[in-house]
Amino acid sequence: MNISAGKLIVLIMSLVSAPAFAAGGLDEAFALYKGSENLSFDANRGKDLWAKKYPGEDGKERECATCHGADLTKAGKHAKTGKPIDPLAPSVNKERFTELKKIEKWFKRNCKWTLGRECTNQEKGDFLTYLSQL
Ligand code: HEC
Repeated sequence: MNISAGKLIVLIMSLVSAPAFAAGGLDEAFALYKGSENLSFDANRGKDLWAKKYPGEDGKERECATCHGADLTKAGKHAKTGKPIDPLAPSVNKERFTELKKIEKWFKRNCKWTLGRECTNQEKGDFLTYLSQL
């Protein structure tokens, strides 16, 4: 045998860690939101949450579509800045939900702005189940 112990360790480590690299942002997000309670998620519940309207501090009603628009396969428009937002549906936008950090950052901001509070893991999992199927 001519394989050094070092090479063997590298080989074994790359085999063991392969599944961790394969998991995308979506898998990581679902694992995070499921948590130790092992919550289960529902696309219809996510859809209802998406369509729900909340009173804004400016007196106007707010909902997720306020910025993302009614058709998630089309570009949205930011309610405050007027800047275009790329479509949220992954069927037309391959970059959607590919990075856990990004998903978490925007859930935090958007839930605070729309609902007036952060979303729970249950809500985030339901939202993501609905959105990831579009
Ligand atoms: C005030 C405007 C605004 C509202 C309202 C809003 N969003 Fe967003 N959202 C954005 C912007 C801006 C981005 C980041 C730009 C981008 O990804 O194109 C974003 C990105 C996201 C992302 C990240 C997508 C990814 O690629 O990882 C998710 C998830 C999301 N929004 C969900 C929601 C949900 C759920 C609601 C309703 C609770 C909501 N948004 C309401 C503006 C908004």
